[in-house]
Amino acid sequence: MPQSLVGVHKFDLDTPVLCIDLDRMESNIQKMAAYCRSHGVQWRPHEKCHKTPAIALKEIEAGAMGVTCAKVSEAEVMAAGGVRDILIANMIVGPRKWERVAALRRWADPIVACDHFAQVEPLAAVCRSHGVEVRVIIEVNLGLDRVGATPGRDTVELAQAISRLKGVKFAGIMGYEGHLLQIAEPADKERQIRESMALLVSCRDQIVKSGVPCDIVSAGGTGSYQYTVKCPGITEVQAGGGIFMDPYYRVKCQVQDLDYALTILATVVSRPTLDRAVLDAGRKTLNPDVATPVVVGYEDAQIKRLSAEHCELTLGPNSRNLKIGDKVELVVGYGDFTTVLHDEFYGFRGDRLEVIWPILGRGKLQ
Ligand SMILES: Cc1ncc(COP(=O)(O)O)c(C=O)c1O
Repeated sequence: MPQSLVGVHKFDLDTPVLCIDLDRMESNIQKMAAYCRSHGVQWRPHEKCHKTPAIALKEIEAGAMGVTCAKVSEAEVMAAGGVRDILIANMIVGPRKWERVAALRRWADPIVACDHFAQVEPLAAVCRSHGVEVRVIIEVNLGLDRVGATPGRDTVELAQAISRLKGVKFAGIMGYEGHLLQIAEPADKERQIRESMALLVSCRDQIVKSGVPCDIVSAGGTGSYQYTVKCPGITEVQAGGGIFMDPYYRVKCQVQDLDYALTILATVVSRPTLDRAVLDAGRKTLNPDVATPVVVGYEDAQIKRLSAEHCELTLGPNSRNLKIGDKVELVVGYGDFTTVLHDEFYGFRGDRLEVIWPILGRGKLQ
């Protein structure tokens, strides 16, 4: 980290920069941890929004039991950064990856998701050959229709088959209610999430009834966790992106009570007309596809178009004073797809730079 930059005012930095408001992020972390704790549910935040062990450790300090991630390579980064309890909430397939999971078991305690015996049997064989045991959970399809075992007999039989294998330990089930995040009417959203969680918990009950212990029942994302946490039988939630909060969660998923903490700092590099300003932050700096970024402090400035390296703003009467060289902050529309474009987070306390964190999980896709 270039220590010489610590203490520098935000507006004195070169741009574009991916910025974290540390006070806001820490407050979001505390709120999410406290909400889970107050309902007796564990918090296992998905780390795909930050991919940064330093932030994972902050989450754990606030009470998270560990993290959720999507890739073996992300889990390796987290383990190297000191995180032990890591759920890889994804299907892991291929001899090289099974080897890596078994090796990872020597320095962390991963859990691997599956929805078919064909993913687990070879993993168990590799684990046996290394003399380790890895925890496995079944992902159940709750209606998202992405991956997941069918609830009911298929799930129970898979749990029984896994429980008979040596080299892996059947640890529970998970489901992701991602198809329910954007239901507009709150009561309807809550009802549908409750039904979906009841379906997941009924799978747990059937597994236990068949004689197989099933400790973990994991679910939930930022767009749903406020309801999911309250559902009976859920033992942990995976909500992660809320630590940054963004217009996708706020506007499309109607999540309140968390503050925007992730922005892009950019510079006005051109003022072609009275009502048009161009910033040095295009699609290679921020992704607008899931939700449109918000211009901070200039309510009547709208994003008109993003090309690779340019962001064109349409200005209203209150933002026409913007001039070449001015700095502008944009709230990132959806954190996940913007973080992966950057090498570093710049963390600010107020307007002063406090820390630069390398995004160590960037590019870790395997
Ligand atoms: C398996 C899984 N869990 C949880 C989440 C929620 O993550 P977040 O809270 O960052 O939106 C997702 C989002 O895609 C997911 O795929």
